[in-house]
Amino acid sequence: MLKLPELGDVTPAAHPSDSAIEMLWRRRSTPADFLSAPGPDAPTLQTILTIAARAPDHRRVTPFRFVIFEGDARARFGEVLEAAFLANDPKAEKHRIDCERKRFTRAPTVVAVISSIDPAHRTPEWEQVLTAGAVCQNLLLAASAHGFAAQWLTEWYAYDDHVISGLGLGDQERVAGFVYLGTARENPKERARPNLKAIISRF
Ligand SMILES: Cc1cc2nc3c(=O)[nH]c(=O)nc-3n(C[C@H](O)[C@H](O)[C@H](O)COP(=O)(O)O)c2cc1C
Repeated sequence: MLKLPELGDVTPAAHPSDSAIEMLWRRRSTPADFLSAPGPDAPTLQTILTIAARAPDHRRVTPFRFVIFEGDARARFGEVLEAAFLANDPKAEKHRIDCERKRFTRAPTVVAVISSIDPAHRTPEWEQVLTAGAVCQNLLLAASAHGFAAQWLTEWYAYDDHVISGLGLGDQERVAGFVYLGTARENPKERARPNLKAIISRF
């Protein structure tokens, strides 16, 4: 495993790498339904989160945190999802309730990336929120480089008050994403890319 640089170590300003270019060029999410075990082991997950947390962060606010769901915790969170779903739709059919309860068991590992802003900080809130998004993307890339497929999801439960309270989020916290990690049962296909002509201009 690579050794983390020490604080103050000189680190290369760029990392030319054909394999990094290929990974970025071909990056695709794998739908959670197509993920299975194995997920990253404990040291690998630690490395993936260390890389994810090294996202651009104006004035080092660290406006995010991680919640890891593995093993039984995924089913325990399923109880929170089920209760929230039933609170919204008490007459829901059994197959819908089962589907909601099992959401986190689609993948061996789910990492909730929580945006956790400090509104009193002089770094604008908008920038703090953007950092959490960068953390999610770093997480996807770090997972891919370690051989794991992933998908960044919010679905309905990122925005549900019952679930938010079950996750123990504070007033200034929101779910930036649930990043599902595992091994792909099927490789994804290329997806349409943005039309660069429509989004690039020159000043
Ligand atoms: C903040 C955020 C939330 C997302 N939530 C969902 C979601 O709830 N359901 C979904 O199908 N895709 C969601 N996506 C999109 C997927 O992560 C993914 O981008 C999509 O499946 C396309 O695959 P790609 O990343 O290979 O382009 C979300 C993306 C972002 C950035």
